[in-house]
Amino acid sequence: MKLFSLIKPILHAFDPETAHQMTISALKHGLYPRLTPVNDPRLYTKLWHLKFKNPIGLAAGFDKNAEAIAPILNMGFGFTEIGTVTPKPQMGNPRPRIFRDVTNEAVINRMGFPNKGVGIFRQNIQKFVKSKKRTPGVVGLNIGMNKDQTKPANDYIFLIKHLGHLAHYFTVNISSPNTPGLRDLQSRENLMPLIAYIQEARETYCESENLPPILVKLAPDLNEEQQQELADVAIDSGIDGLILTNTTLDRPDSLPEAFSAEKGGLSGQPVKDKSTEVIKNFYVLTQGKIPIIGVGGVSSGADAYEKIKAGASLVQLYSALIFQGPELVNDINHDLLTLLEEDGFDHISQAIGTAHQ
Ligand SMILES: Cc1cc2nc3c(=O)[nH]c(=O)nc-3n(C[C@H](O)[C@H](O)[C@H](O)COP(=O)(O)O)c2cc1C
Repeated sequence: MKLFSLIKPILHAFDPETAHQMTISALKHGLYPRLTPVNDPRLYTKLWHLKFKNPIGLAAGFDKNAEAIAPILNMGFGFTEIGTVTPKPQMGNPRPRIFRDVTNEAVINRMGFPNKGVGIFRQNIQKFVKSKKRTPGVVGLNIGMNKDQTKPANDYIFLIKHLGHLAHYFTVNISSPNTPGLRDLQSRENLMPLIAYIQEARETYCESENLPPILVKLAPDLNEEQQQELADVAIDSGIDGLILTNTTLDRPDSLPEAFSAEKGGLSGQPVKDKSTEVIKNFYVLTQGKIPIIGVGGVSSGADAYEKIKAGASLVQLYSALIFQGPELVNDINHDLLTLLEEDGFDHISQAIGTAHQ
């Protein structure tokens, strides 16, 4: 029996945010199962100058304040994306602001970037970096703007200045639905200059060897025209990658009414197919030239493999952890190996984009 099946009823007896805080606290104090991570060369992934021991990462929003980097990597993730961090600390929206629907393995959140600000965030990463037995793994930094910021570029530049030397990669989050005006950055007019400022900040503040790649994270709620426009921006601006996707504002009919009525972004199973479609579209629109990290509703090896075949080079997950616990990460990696064998592939990279052949 898996340990999480014993812990789950206890965690789920609390409201989702309290359960999350308990989980982060347990991780920080070393109270988590020591799972032997899958270590198989067929899953080793090199992207940009970074080496991932497997293609499965933790999505942004779980470890907002960079408090549990080592425990997360120890659970078997190939990488973790910490944040979203904003320059100043902020409270976010009033609680309750996370809701779960166990039947559909779905989550709605309207957190609004609560976080302790860049000072604490930086200290926590430094603690991890300086630790004697540093856990290997890639650490991406997801950056966003404060709610009261009217000039978004200022916040992104500020964050790159203060975190540049600590980032393996940066994710520019312009797709969370809970910060007013943030999703408006998803247009050519707004995004081209923003990326130019961010790239300039990277040249100025990051070490010239191994500059951290800059990725942009997009929403699944983009129509065809917007997707075309943003794919062109991705190519023309020279960004290094895309994260597809954030949560959706959709509310499928299958969801219970009371849950569906909650405002915020929906994640987990109900966003899975939509996010895969967006990955497929961007892979085609960018001719496979811009690496994609696929995220949205991944809860099995088959789901992760589907995202990879759609065009993702790496995969992330968050919501499925709430329902299936940390053992899921190793299960997914084991299942990926079986799926690779079934398809006659020697390495995970051979599966990328094969849904298009
Ligand atoms: C409670 C919660 C908080 C989140 N916070 C963030 C965030 O701060 N920044 C971000 O880019 N995405 C955030 N996300 C979105 C996830 O990173 C991911 O893109 C989305 O949930 C889809 O993946 P999933 O279905 O595996 O959860 C959050 C998701 C959840 C459920």
